[in-house]
Amino acid sequence: MSARNYMLALLNQQRSGHSLAQPFYGDPDIFRLDMEQIWYREWLFAIPACELTKPGSYVTHKVGDYRVIIVRGADNMIRAFHNTCRHRGSVICKAAKGNAPKLVCPYHQWTYELDGKLLWARDMGADFDATQHGLKPVHCRELSGLIYICLADDAPDFDAYADFVKPYLAPHDLSNAKVAHGSSIIESGNWKLVWENNRECYHCSGNHPSLCRTFPEDPTVSGVEGDIPLQLQSHFERMEAQGFPSRFKMSENMQYRVTRMPLLEGAESYTMDGKIAVNKFLGRIADKSAGTLLKFHYPTTWNHFLADHSIVFRVTPIGPTETEVTTKWLVNKNAVEGQDYDLKRLTEVWTATNDEDRRVVEDNQHGINSPAYEPGPYSRTQESGVISFVDWYRNTMGDRLQPTMMAAE
Ligand code: FES
Ligand SMILES: [Fe+2]
Repeated sequence: MSARNYMLALLNQQRSGHSLAQPFYGDPDIFRLDMEQIWYREWLFAIPACELTKPGSYVTHKVGDYRVIIVRGADNMIRAFHNTCRHRGSVICKAAKGNAPKLVCPYHQWTYELDGKLLWARDMGADFDATQHGLKPVHCRELSGLIYICLADDAPDFDAYADFVKPYLAPHDLSNAKVAHGSSIIESGNWKLVWENNRECYHCSGNHPSLCRTFPEDPTVSGVEGDIPLQLQSHFERMEAQGFPSRFKMSENMQYRVTRMPLLEGAESYTMDGKIAVNKFLGRIADKSAGTLLKFHYPTTWNHFLADHSIVFRVTPIGPTETEVTTKWLVNKNAVEGQDYDLKRLTEVWTATNDEDRRVVEDNQHGINSPAYEPGPYSRTQESGVISFVDWYRNTMGDRLQPTMMAAE
């Protein structure tokens, strides 16, 4: 049986409301299909635009077999290119980030403009056409200060998602942000376990002592189902009356969602004492009780946008049981460390929370690896967000694999 048909058979056997079968969390063939059918086809959050501070600033990113350069051009436009030289294929930018007036291949020094044009190639003969050897572009879009890329030849529509979230993001003014701190951790778990863990707070009280000082465990915060409690409804209304879109909104295919949720009574930000972390706010929301705008977009990103700062998370699969989680804390570009914010105070809650999440994801993976593992039931009250993620995954994979199987029969 081909890997595709094997996966389809597994998807068909999947019991609704239950965790996935073991191969989804570690089988190399399933992982390869995940990469090909989801990661190489979807729009992926890459970086906050403010990370590329000036023309020539670049970062590199690796998604599966692809290596990408994201660079700010002389015209200030951010573009993405495949990080493979058009001469004999060498990686061009080796560093994780840097600044360069031109992109120079380290092998034979072919030199590219920041917009990807080949500028110089030594001794290639009179008939060599430089215009045919520019860097291969990768689809790249900016959405309210967030840079997304897509590795597919034909990218799916981006505008529907952009139009959906833009009004929610606008007050946070990410174009005037700077990265106060970044962290990347490797979790020894399949990327779907990272997401499943993210999409519920059933585990919060037992695992996140710092986060639980400010973040409500109420399942309506991380879930998608059920009536909206009165208190939440009045938070939406209060914030919307101030001009800040807030109410729960989810795409039809369940791939993305936005909602502005209150923190615990009296809490203002993700700090140990619950008070503001940054005195100079990022964005236009002055109300310290605004809570947090929660956004997720499968398969790469979940985010928290608070009144005083924003936090963006990026998920990148490294292997069948290895996933990178990158976190960036964004503050007002004019906020001064040591004066407007203390870096430890700003970052300690989510640094601890990320590490706690890494531990539970790894424990989950280890247990699933046992031959005794069998899919178990999700709590409909506490884990409706996980059910929704798994449904999105199953629908997406099912749709994409089905035509090929039928054609092969
Ligand atoms: S491989 Fe890049 S210049 Fe030769
Ligand atoms: Fe968690």
